[in-house]
Amino acid sequence: MLTLDKVDCYYTGIQVLDNVTFSLNKGELVSILGRNGAGKTTTLKAIMGLVIPTSGSITLDGVVLSSLPAHEVPKQGVAFVPQGRRLFPMLSVRENLEMGQYVNDSGDGVLEWVLQLFPDLKNRLRQRAGTLSGGQQQMVAMARALCTQPRYLLLDEPSEGLMPILVERVLETVLELKQQDVGILLVEQKVDAALHISDRVLLLENGSIALETTPDVLAMDSDPLVRYVGIKR
Ligand SMILES: Nc1ncnc2c1ncn2[C@@H]1O[C@H](COP(=O)(O)OP(=O)(O)OP(=O)(O)O)[C@@H](O)[C@H]1O
Ligand SMILES: [Mg+2]
Repeated sequence: MLTLDKVDCYYTGIQVLDNVTFSLNKGELVSILGRNGAGKTTTLKAIMGLVIPTSGSITLDGVVLSSLPAHEVPKQGVAFVPQGRRLFPMLSVRENLEMGQYVNDSGDGVLEWVLQLFPDLKNRLRQRAGTLSGGQQQMVAMARALCTQPRYLLLDEPSEGLMPILVERVLETVLELKQQDVGILLVEQKVDAALHISDRVLLLENGSIALETTPDVLAMDSDPLVRYVGIKR
């Protein structure tokens, strides 16, 4: 289980996470929703050790992630697909995927598994990542994260800029990973799509968890979505 306990984070003296506490189980899909600037990305970065909490702790099955350097976190079985993809554009698709494989010395089996999830990449292994379409780059970013064979996957707006059919593909893949017992933390602007596949939902406002709820409860009363995400109903 991945657990955040009373996590506070600051950027240059300004508090952006305030007492953030939640946990994520294996095989569970939890969405973090909130307005722009609410602290969603910062929450994921804190888990990855890319932002250091000033107080509180982040643990994974008893291992204190928040005391590890950032490069050690993926080795504990947590992978992150950042907002905006961040591939190595001059490297081929295969080389980008190998970057993921190196992290945990994953064997070739993992590449086969990943290419099963993203069959469209099979014919593009030699293409430079920078020349792929936006949707294809998103697939590579997810595929690269999966090459580390994570037990927990953090996705920051994976459907950003994708056409609807690809959004569906990404979300289907997320569900497939969940079925393979991967715990998933999903930040997504496409609220309905996120709610459709989530087990639980965290509503973040100004760096605090304003409400922890479920899609079923929100289906009966969408007021919290209006209030914390700014959705019009
Ligand atoms: N490197 C940084 N330096 C200073 N402030 C930052 C930095 N990164 C983020 N912030 C600020 O921290 C707050 C939370 O940012 P964060 O990126 O976590 O929001 P978010 O919920 O992911 O928003 P969005 O939906 O727009 O992606 C914002 O007010 C943002 O301006
Ligand atoms: Mg963000």
